[in-house]
Amino acid sequence: MAHGHTRMFIRQLLKNPSETGAIMPSSRKLAARMLELSGPAPDSVVAEYGPGTGAFTRAILDALQPDQKFFCVEINEDFARRLRKETPDLSVHVGCASRIAEYLKEEGLDHVDRVISGLPWAVFPDGLQRKILDAMIAVMPKGGVFVTFAYLQGLIMPSGRLFRKNLGRRFPDVRKSGVVWENVPPAIVYRCEK
Ligand SMILES: C[S@@+](CC[C@H](N)C(=O)[O-])C[C@H]1O[C@@H](n2cnc3c(N)ncnc32)[C@H](O)[C@@H]1O
Repeated sequence: MAHGHTRMFIRQLLKNPSETGAIMPSSRKLAARMLELSGPAPDSVVAEYGPGTGAFTRAILDALQPDQKFFCVEINEDFARRLRKETPDLSVHVGCASRIAEYLKEEGLDHVDRVISGLPWAVFPDGLQRKILDAMIAVMPKGGVFVTFAYLQGLIMPSGRLFRKNLGRRFPDVRKSGVVWENVPPAIVYRCEK
């Protein structure tokens, strides 16, 4: 992992703690687990929420098939600027993931089949969790898949438990992976199917 990315994370955490929610980028192991659980989906529309310095983005781009469409939604302009500089062909929308319908329209699309999320749900209040999840559900067809991670310590926090409930109220099928111990901090992945 590039030290520059970790430095940037720490800077952004100090500047925007309630958005950044992590002290360092996710590991390759966690990125691989996220991709494995989102599964191959030929001819699909894939969106990444909260790419940060691109830990998942690079794994998604490596696995992307020619008939898939892919774009990112990142609220932090500094992260978005850096990601665009490092990956000039990537489409990055700057704003809140709750505006997914708007960004799909700008892409000339009307639905999303796979959402791979790096959002820090455990630092989000209930209202924001629900707003982002409801906006996503509204543009996801049946069989659509949402994958997201949670740090182990976040699972026992009230907002982490609330997030699990919010998933269960919206997705008929919610599965939790084993712990990815190699990540700092260790994390699990939720795979949710509509
Ligand atoms: C925990 S970091 C994860 C970054 C990266 N995916 C990784 O795993 O290393 C959370 C990311 O979500 C972004 N973010 C936070 N709130 C957001 C929102 N409402 N909409 C879109 N992005 C958001 C942050 O700016 C940050 O890039």
